[in-house]
Amino acid sequence: MEIAKGIYNIGVNDKDIDLFEGLYTVPDGVLYNSYVVIDEKITVFDTADARFSDEWLANLKSVLDGRKPDYLIVEHMEPDHSASIAKFVSEYPEAVVVSETKAFKMMSQFFGSEFSFEKLEIKEGDELCTGRHNFKFVAAPMVHWPEVMIAYDTTDKILFSADAFGKFGASDTTEDWDDEARRYYIGIVGKYGAQVQTLLKKAAALDISMICPLHGPVLKENLGHYIALYDKWSSYTPEADGVVIAYASIYGNTKKAALLLADKLRENGCENVKVFDLARDDKYEALAQAFRYSKLVLASPTYNSELFPPVRAFMDLLAERGYKNRTVGMIENGSWAPVAARLMEKRFAEFKGITLAESKVTVKSALSNESVSQIEALADELK
Ligand code: FEO
Repeated sequence: MEIAKGIYNIGVNDKDIDLFEGLYTVPDGVLYNSYVVIDEKITVFDTADARFSDEWLANLKSVLDGRKPDYLIVEHMEPDHSASIAKFVSEYPEAVVVSETKAFKMMSQFFGSEFSFEKLEIKEGDELCTGRHNFKFVAAPMVHWPEVMIAYDTTDKILFSADAFGKFGASDTTEDWDDEARRYYIGIVGKYGAQVQTLLKKAAALDISMICPLHGPVLKENLGHYIALYDKWSSYTPEADGVVIAYASIYGNTKKAALLLADKLRENGCENVKVFDLARDDKYEALAQAFRYSKLVLASPTYNSELFPPVRAFMDLLAERGYKNRTVGMIENGSWAPVAARLMEKRFAEFKGITLAESKVTVKSALSNESVSQIEALADELK
């Protein structure tokens, strides 16, 4: 598909994948973008997942019109983009592979120390002129691997942004960009907010007309919207006021407490209330929504004198991604020695910028007048 004059996206759709990175459900698949810039010299940006090497090489051939690529720019070495490098080099041995030091080291690791090819090592600020186009390289370490080097075409003002501004979903899906880009970003890049902030500051100095990410659609309009979301996500700023209630329940009593809280919040006028069963729902969607909104309530039974495992695992996901700057409430349940709230409080003390709700809810086995009153108080505090 030609996305601009002489610039093609030869990416491939992956509809067979069950879990992206072995973790994330992708019901609408995922798209591995790869770009070809036809110029005096022909440049290819990144390759594709190993399962699509042949399809990707066929796509490449179809836009070359009998010519051969001169450069393969490797922006990112995660195998969803890099796994077909060796096949590319085998097909086009005279092409020069352009990347940075750490990426070349990774190529040896992935393809073996005997893997040889023409190489051009670049660093931040270097430029590659291919005729009409001129690519300026911008380092984007930890967005989301350390070797990432993105490129800005100073001619057409296009940012080839690697994983940044990518989303889940194949090219033929119409799902909302924000939701699947958020789930992608929070899950995969969420830990590296500081590094994304650094990249955004570099990008702010560029006049960008189009963003070409390695996943999801090419972004041509309303770029401020996407950049503003990235700024919010990477600065750990809630997008909106709202409450995410994430629970796990053994016999349904903790679930009843969580759902009652949701009802009371809605009665109080809260427009954004989202409820997740951490044992059954997509925990990475729950995670993304927790980062989206300003408040979070965790509801957990006590289990083996510990948090119920799905809640403990969810707290790990929050911690790994530096969850912060939010208000957190807790609902605990226990039939003889409830300790879940104390354990959650102790864990949240390790997070930064977390304000704990004053209203505590303890359910002893099942909802009672007392625990219903506590839930009403929590709903009043969080409204
Ligand atoms: Fe799409 Fe970090 O690879």
